[in-house]
Amino acid sequence: MQVVTTIAELRAQLAPLRQSGRTIGFVPTMGYLHRGHEALVRAARQECDVVVVSIFVNPLQFGPTEDFESYPRDSEHDRAILSAARADFLFQPAVEEIYPRPLVTEVAVPELSHSLEGRTRPTHFKGVATVVLKLLHIVWPDRAYFGQKDGQQVAVVRRLLSDLDLPIELRVVPTVREDDGLALSSRNVYLSPDERQVAPLLHKVLVRGREAAQAGSDGPTVQAAMEALLRQEPLVRLDYAAVVDPDSMQPKHELTGRVMLAIAAYVGKTRLIDNLVLDL
Ligand code: PAJ
Repeated sequence: MQVVTTIAELRAQLAPLRQSGRTIGFVPTMGYLHRGHEALVRAARQECDVVVVSIFVNPLQFGPTEDFESYPRDSEHDRAILSAARADFLFQPAVEEIYPRPLVTEVAVPELSHSLEGRTRPTHFKGVATVVLKLLHIVWPDRAYFGQKDGQQVAVVRRLLSDLDLPIELRVVPTVREDDGLALSSRNVYLSPDERQVAPLLHKVLVRGREAAQAGSDGPTVQAAMEALLRQEPLVRLDYAAVVDPDSMQPKHELTGRVMLAIAAYVGKTRLIDNLVLDL
């Protein structure tokens, strides 16, 4: 695996590969890689000739009180994982390489960015949309790989690609979980042993929500049931439970077709998110 830190060098490396007809798969990440990220890399490895992974902790998508400075980082471990998963290129730029001066151009998908995550993280998806578009323009892949774990991010990126006519195929990889259901996340390292014990509650509640939806409950009823279950656990502070259309992020009342159940909750001080997409 080649490690590249500048835009110019990455472009120089990829141009001849693209020109010779090789397909390029791209997996954007913020590092501190786990089996969830690995699943994305393996999917890209199966489907593409060349696999590019980026590690860039994007300051733009963190709010002023969020964990940008303390976001977990472990470059050596990440490189070992990516070598084992047979990535071809690791693009790991410094912040100044991506943002050499303040941006005056805005990339935003406001329709999809203000509900759910956007309530507590009002500038988050603007930061995500901006960096994803920049990275896509730098790598110019045939396919880009995202995890269902961040369901609203998938909706934002899908709409961004469509609205701006980017000829890049979006591939969505199912959420990888621990045996007890907890979705893998770089932020799980923040959990104390007690908090780690209760954290699988998010997934359990989603499964209960799915059962209620499959039994014919409507959106508000499923949402209220999930909220009530989450409020029973003293170590968990509910941020939201929602029942939405997975593309528009709008609340769904009648539950037919594709439905996303989504939860965000603090377990101790750590904010965790999870979701399930159902086809009813
Ligand atoms: P990060 O949180 O590092 O996640 C990188 C990718 O891994 C995302 O597409 C995310 O959905 C996926 N992922 C994380 N946990 C997963 C799991 N348990 N199962 C499957 N996929 C999982 O998401 C970001 O970084 C950033 O917002 C980024 C897109 C890189 C833009 O900065």
